[in-house]
Amino acid sequence: MLTKEQNDLLTQTGPGTPGGALLRRYWQPVALASEIPLGGDPLPIDILSEALVLFRDEDGRLGLLGRHCPHRGADLSYGRVEDGGLRCLYHGWLFDVGGKCLEQPAEPKGSTFKDKICQKSYPVVERGGAVFAYMGPGEPPLFPAYDFFAYPPEHVFARKLFKECNYLQANEGNYDPAHVGFLHRSSQMLNRSGLVFGDMRKFGRVDISDAAVDPFSVPALKVEDAPFGMRIFQVRDGGPDKTYLRVTTFGMPNFSVIAGPQGGDGHVGIWHVPINDHVHWRFGFTLRRDAPIAQARETDEFAPSIRPRDPQYFDGEFHHRQQLRNRYLQDRSTFADSYTGMGSHFSVHDAFATESQGSIQDRTQEHLGRTDLAIGAARRMMLRAIADVQEGRDPVGVVRSPSDNDFRDMISFDVLVENGSDYAEVVRAVADETGRTLA
Ligand code: FES
Ligand SMILES: [Fe+2]
Repeated sequence: MLTKEQNDLLTQTGPGTPGGALLRRYWQPVALASEIPLGGDPLPIDILSEALVLFRDEDGRLGLLGRHCPHRGADLSYGRVEDGGLRCLYHGWLFDVGGKCLEQPAEPKGSTFKDKICQKSYPVVERGGAVFAYMGPGEPPLFPAYDFFAYPPEHVFARKLFKECNYLQANEGNYDPAHVGFLHRSSQMLNRSGLVFGDMRKFGRVDISDAAVDPFSVPALKVEDAPFGMRIFQVRDGGPDKTYLRVTTFGMPNFSVIAGPQGGDGHVGIWHVPINDHVHWRFGFTLRRDAPIAQARETDEFAPSIRPRDPQYFDGEFHHRQQLRNRYLQDRSTFADSYTGMGSHFSVHDAFATESQGSIQDRTQEHLGRTDLAIGAARRMMLRAIADVQEGRDPVGVVRSPSDNDFRDMISFDVLVENGSDYAEVVRAVADETGRTLA
């Protein structure tokens, strides 16, 4: 349970808010690269309650500018890409990717007024199939060397999904291990002989249909601080002398890495980025280390229950068909097949769970139990980081020196280990193994 003041600190993300200041200290994904191809149209985007426009100039350089023209406020996303920048349609002012005003054709010849004008602009980089922006003050930190960005592009699948709630509650779902055994339950998993997650046999590396693991049992939890945020260890019985260990990552402040459904060896990195305080984008980066993911995701290895862009589940690219406004098309007559009566798609279940909490969950009314250990720990870490920013310090996970920019042990996976194993040792061993496959 939080006080109202704490809940406000963590959920308010607009300009000038302490929580918004924290989020702005980290590189954030703002668009998919596929949305802004060379020669493509300028893209209006709303991020952290700021109206922006993303565009490529004729040389292919990306610019992220304030959307409203500093002259008299017309929307620059309608503008013309020409003459080295983006030109406002109203009176022809021209801006380069850095926000510099290059021309004001309606001003008197020889006027230097344009030199006094600079449109708001944010640094952007393209990584892993997405465009990331730094929207904070001062020199941007180093772009974090997460492994999603170290593999060739065909090993990473980037996507985004619209979510109708505050970013924090969707983020908290990523380190809430107890929900999986309820919310995502489906008929196949109730059949012990074919124990699978929906239609998945693996949820990470361990073949849970072969191993003596009940991944739906409630795990024992342990959390430990890490340079990027936190590691969450889920521990379950793994059969005689074995422990089934599942490691999940919380990356400050709105990032998680989950051992995942990519098939083969890899994991999924997820950013929940506020559009405003009531809706957000979920950016997902699925990494498969041992093979190009483009092949895997269209085949049986990529389970139908999580297969992206399935038209049965998605309306266009970015929206679920099953939404809050249609009660997720819940059909209670299907309760025998799926726990929710909402079909087998995991992200629909998650959308229901987090969006139905209200657009901003009132955390003064909740009652956290033992399985919410990581949620409480992450909130405390975020509140400390907000205080750090207010006091002029870099928050946890912001990297400024190349020697600190090493995240090879920021991995999420599952594994069967001997009882009594040292979990830190296990993480090091898996990090060594996966680190070797870095291209
Ligand atoms: S409003 Fe953009 S040039 Fe006048
Ligand atoms: Fe979930």
